[in-house]
Amino acid sequence: MIDVCDLFNLLLAYVPGISGANHQRPKRHTMAVPPTYVDLGKSARDIFTKGYGFGLIKLDLKTRSENGLEFKSSGSANTETSKVAGTLETKYKWAEHGLTFTEKWNTDNTLGTEITLEDQLAKGLKLTFDSSFSPNTGKKSGKIKSGYQHEHINLGCDVDYDINGTAVHGAVVVGFEGWLAGYQMTFEAGRNRVTQSNFAVGYKTDEFQLHTNVNDGTEFGGSIYQKVNDNLETAVNLAWTAGNSNTRFGIAAKYQIDADASFSAKVNNSSLIGLGYTQTLKPGIKLTLSALLDGKNVNAGGHKLGLGLEFEA
Ligand SMILES: *[C@@H]1O[C@H](CO)[C@@H](O)[C@H](O)[C@H]1NC(C)=O
Ligand SMILES: *[C@@H]1O[C@H](CO)[C@@H](O)[C@H](O)[C@H]1NC(C)=O
Ligand SMILES: *[C@@H]1O[C@H](CO)[C@@H](O)[C@H](O)[C@H]1NC(C)=O
Repeated sequence: MIDVCDLFNLLLAYVPGISGANHQRPKRHTMAVPPTYVDLGKSARDIFTKGYGFGLIKLDLKTRSENGLEFKSSGSANTETSKVAGTLETKYKWAEHGLTFTEKWNTDNTLGTEITLEDQLAKGLKLTFDSSFSPNTGKKSGKIKSGYQHEHINLGCDVDYDINGTAVHGAVVVGFEGWLAGYQMTFEAGRNRVTQSNFAVGYKTDEFQLHTNVNDGTEFGGSIYQKVNDNLETAVNLAWTAGNSNTRFGIAAKYQIDADASFSAKVNNSSLIGLGYTQTLKPGIKLTLSALLDGKNVNAGGHKLGLGLEFEA
């Protein structure tokens, strides 16, 4: 299966302009590089997910030293199950060689190592070697990811190895004048078949983004993101499954109150209302409060609260 990726990378080498030699060509408009497939529709998704943490008490620490070493740790306690989870991550960037080394550990006792090489073999080409190991269970997995981006195109080819066998994920996104179209598929070598096949089409400007997708021909989704003005962003989300009349939908908004505070709200067709408030207390210290209310039973219990603190130095 590596052959598929090799072939793919070889093809890339023949894409004109990969060597970066023809940059003198005057640009009429700065065409952005299209996002990766998984990042399509991200602006809308972020409005729905960022600034909330229902049922969790969460603490994040981030420090960075001058020599390029980054340290991140995160811990959370679930207020219902009292389960405590944590992660540690160190990252070292060796900028002159385009290399990034990341070491990860979590309280499920999984160790992970990631090495990324970017813009070295060719401009826009990113290679990632990612492996994880769980000493308790002896489970191992590995990934080789390759991504190439250039004006109008973003390609990705990942190969995963784990106990389930080898899987190849391929993705392509092309963009032109704000229009985006993408295809993503997963091929499982062990089962010798394509197990996932997803399409997406969208339109993107800084203030407005439309995203639609069809997964495996049965799951349909759409989202709209709009930046109404400097302070207000809104998003709408719609999803349905073929052969089932249950449409799921939600709307969300984020309002930047001032430079240090923002307020988020969302509601979906299950009448679940999410509220979030984020405040920078001091430079490098951020507080997030959130609440999930059941709009059908405002007086009954079942609401969830969340508290998050982020420190960055
Ligand atoms: C292996 O497959 C099983 C069932 O399809 C799945 O639940 C599990 O998460 C997979 N393991 C890995 C490491 O992807
Ligand atoms: C709303 O969401 C639920 C899932 O929680 C779904 O089953 C239901 O059919 C949805 N649609 C409408 C129109 O209420
Ligand atoms: C509705 O919103 C809540 C909270 O944001 C979420 O947990 C739930 O999964 C959503 N339901 C549907 C059907 O989208």
